[in-house]
Amino acid sequence: MTTTSSSPIELTLTIGGDLPVHRLGFGAMRLTGGPDRATGIATARRAVELGVTLIDTADSYDLGQNEELLAEALHPYPAGVVVATKGGQVNLGRQWIPLGRPEYLRQQAELSLRRLRVERIDLYQLHRVDPTVPLADQVGALRLLQEQGKVRHIGLSEVGLAQLVEAERIAPIAAVQNRYNLADRASEDVLEHCTRRGIAFLPWLPVAPLVRGGAGAVDAVAARLGATPAQVSLAWLLHRSPVVAPIPGTSSMAHLEENVAAAGLTLDEQDMAELAPGR
Ligand SMILES: NC(=O)c1ccc[n+]([C@@H]2O[C@H](COP(=O)([O-])OP(=O)(O)OC[C@H]3O[C@@H](n4cnc5c(N)ncnc54)[C@H](OP(=O)(O)O)[C@@H]3O)[C@@H](O)[C@H]2O)c1
Repeated sequence: MTTTSSSPIELTLTIGGDLPVHRLGFGAMRLTGGPDRATGIATARRAVELGVTLIDTADSYDLGQNEELLAEALHPYPAGVVVATKGGQVNLGRQWIPLGRPEYLRQQAELSLRRLRVERIDLYQLHRVDPTVPLADQVGALRLLQEQGKVRHIGLSEVGLAQLVEAERIAPIAAVQNRYNLADRASEDVLEHCTRRGIAFLPWLPVAPLVRGGAGAVDAVAARLGATPAQVSLAWLLHRSPVVAPIPGTSSMAHLEENVAAAGLTLDEQDMAELAPGR
């Protein structure tokens, strides 16, 4: 794999102007509900050992167990580790239902504070916009939590551009978490806006669609650079915009190490053009 000691891209992103993170983050969702608890804990600890400082979870991941596992693995959190969580979506087995009533969001934030064992949540993200509740009420609830000191920064997940612009009029939006990867760039306009505004953009599903092979350019570039398709997919995201902080998820130590190492992979203009022609 081609690595450089001084990367040509900046690998630190400062969320909300005061929360620096290493841009290659980690999504904790897959640490519960599948692997045994010891594996989940060891994987979270290894991520931090490897230099990950941005970890994403949600209240609805295994009914709070995911947040509890992170606290068990990492509390007291090492300096610089940022745990981002989400509220506002209920998981009923295969069904995910947005639930954005302000009183529910306030309750869920309190429960996340308790489970994560923190006095303030670094980044609290509205998991889904609830179409049955005015956006102003949902973002307003997060703003109140911020004013009360329970939430440091506010984020949104799966928002369209118009929703993001509307939300920014209600509260300072520090981060957006939308599905985005080399094979799915429907959120390109949102990413462009985030880049212009200095809003962190946390793409979820950053690798899964690209790792099975047969993804054309990704495989070709990976073979040329001696890297894996997952690494090329993550490196492309890191090169795509300085506000991007991917949060790949895995419960495999080997995949974790592979993914973190992608931060050291340099893509040149030819690689970028081949991966996403026309960009
Ligand atoms: N905001 C939202 O609505 C939303 C929705 C979904 C997820 N998320 C967040 O985004 C994070 C990432 O999402 P995700 O887990 O769905 O997508 P992902 O990170 O793109 O994909 C994870 C899947 O890819 C595999 N994988 C990971 N690294 C690999 C590698 N190097 N080589 C081969 N396979 C690899 C994992 O399996 P192994 O375990 O075998 O490695 C797992 O099946 C989640 O943890 C969660 O925090 C947010």
